Amino acid sequence: MVYTKKRKIKKEAIITIIAIIIVIILIITSICIYKHFTSTEYKLGKIGYNEKEITTLLKADDKVLTKALENKYDKYLIPLTKEKYFLWKNYDKYVKEIKKTLEKSNKIDYTDIVAKVNVKRNYDYYTHTEKTDMDKENAILVNKYYSLPEKYAPKNIVDVSNWHAYGNIKLNNEAYEAFKTMFNAAKKDGITLIINSGYRTYEAQKQTYDDYKNWYDEEYADGIAARPDFSEHQTGLALDIITYGTSGKEFENTDAYKWLQKNAHKYGFILRYPKGKEDITGYSYESWHYRYLGKDLAQKVKNSGLTYDEYYAYYLD
Ligand code: DAL
Ligand code: ZN
Repeated sequence: MVYTKKRKIKKEAIITIIAIIIVIILIITSICIYKHFTSTEYKLGKIGYNEKEITTLLKADDKVLTKALENKYDKYLIPLTKEKYFLWKNYDKYVKEIKKTLEKSNKIDYTDIVAKVNVKRNYDYYTHTEKTDMDKENAILVNKYYSLPEKYAPKNIVDVSNWHAYGNIKLNNEAYEAFKTMFNAAKKDGITLIINSGYRTYEAQKQTYDDYKNWYDEEYADGIAARPDFSEHQTGLALDIITYGTSGKEFENTDAYKWLQKNAHKYGFILRYPKGKEDITGYSYESWHYRYLGKDLAQKVKNSGLTYDEYYAYYLD
């Protein structure tokens, strides 16, 4: 009798344990199912991202992940946000530019698209222009999208000695002081730097531009000269440098040019319109045109390998 009762109790205990185990398994399974359907991975998969994209998105920063989760599938999100100089404020413009590119070719160069949109090159030159931020002082950006105040005439313009220049040239005071230091350093290395052009008034820049336009045509003029109020020369911070026996175009074959390539940034100057970047700067390669930015900024721009237009858009705007 006692034995049967004991067996019954044992059987009930086993049934209870099994029941508890089943309940636990059910709870765990439910939690797992719940977790799966509410997981970021699942949501991204539902939106349309594949496994590889999901892995990338889970490692991306919060803003990228949120954008992915809150919008429809976007195949440009990952490649665009991976770009070093990607800017969120330009996102829609990048996508618009990609779609425009795809109408002509099936190859997308994301780096190129980001660079172009950042410098407003998705718009035609001299459209969507704005006044440049004059508070940036030596760092002001002047190009085909950022103009100087109307008929701008800067202060702090000084005469350049004939010792340093051909003809009557003027420059911004600080830029000239920096040039003199650079001139002396170059001289010690057996190099003579000569300023061929410096500050140009509104009228002088207009004359230069109009002459090219009349001699050739507008497209040609725009490739080599800025329109008045859109020229760095009108700030007094830009200068064209040559050396003995050369004109502008031959300058790149001289030791003086090589010296500047190696040293100009140490004195606060950068080559403003480099070779291969014509579509970013809007100008033909000018081996002679240097822009004064100040030592610190010139060093940073040089190190970045960017044109000043790109550097400004990413770091200073
Ligand atoms: N040649 C440069 C672009 C200027 O005219 O300012
Ligand atoms: Zn110039």
